[in-house]
Amino acid sequence: MDDIDLIKLAMEAKNNAHAVYSNYNVGAALLTKEGKVFTGCNIECSSYGISLCAERVALVKAVSEGYTEFTKIAVVGGHLDECTYTTPCGACRQFLSDFNNCDMDVIMGYKENEELISKTFKLKELLPENFEL
Ligand code: THU
Repeated sequence: MDDIDLIKLAMEAKNNAHAVYSNYNVGAALLTKEGKVFTGCNIECSSYGISLCAERVALVKAVSEGYTEFTKIAVVGGHLDECTYTTPCGACRQFLSDFNNCDMDVIMGYKENEELISKTFKLKELLPENFEL
């Protein structure tokens, strides 16, 4: 699974975003070490604080199906149909870091003049000194 294919799956998931309060739609696609993909979108709630981010939705889907090791996650987001540079929030970085000890590629997909481009970081770059029990 190459990065662009993973970004495209994240874009499909973004179409299901339930972001009725912020109108900021996010999609994520998480690749397991076995090569299986789990997608997620943000799901907002009338009790705002319990809304779910796309990355954590993808992660809990994977973990609840027995997959706990990941090699990459692609993230896309933006207001409504836009696809602008969107990075995982701090809570999602920590949640992801509990798996694979931060050795995971985080791929941000976004559009510039209709061209799909991406920027990739290791999770450990985005969350140095992550908390560990
Ligand atoms: N959001 C995500 O889904 N992932 C992130 O990493 C950042 C924020 C969502 C939460 C909320 O539904 C909307 O984006 C605006 O904050």
